[in-house]
Amino acid sequence: MAIIHDDIGRRRFLSQAVMGFGLLFGLGTLLLRFVQFLVPSPGAKQYVAVLIGSEAAFPVGAAVPMDLGGHKIMVLRTDEDVVAFSRRCTDLGCLVSWNKEREEFLCPCHQGVFDKTGRNIAGPPPRPLDRFEIVKRGEQLYVNIQSQAG
Ligand code: FES
Repeated sequence: MAIIHDDIGRRRFLSQAVMGFGLLFGLGTLLLRFVQFLVPSPGAKQYVAVLIGSEAAFPVGAAVPMDLGGHKIMVLRTDEDVVAFSRRCTDLGCLVSWNKEREEFLCPCHQGVFDKTGRNIAGPPPRPLDRFEIVKRGEQLYVNIQSQAG
């Protein structure tokens, strides 16, 4: 009688131990994923400053198209500042071009229009053009682009 009772107790203990390890493993995995969500990995977003030339190389009122590491951008110099926009229309991704007379970016696909600040003002684009940060070091201008590794 005592032997049977010990055998049942051992089975119950083993069963609970296996369930306990499974529960701990599941909770540990959830905790790990939660911490990964809160703390981005170091290589998540890395930016590289790419030299685009001296400020004087960009005439006021003109927008210069460039391809920087696969990013198609447009560098626009206004009376106030130099700004860089993605040429990808925020509707379906066609390449916008600059119209100097209208001072607007025009999308040829569905007649989307963006003003000189990149704001969507007509047509189907749902949001402004994406902007790239420009850094001035002396007379030289750099555009911060996300590196391919990031
Ligand atoms: S893709 Fe530019 S307006 Fe549709």
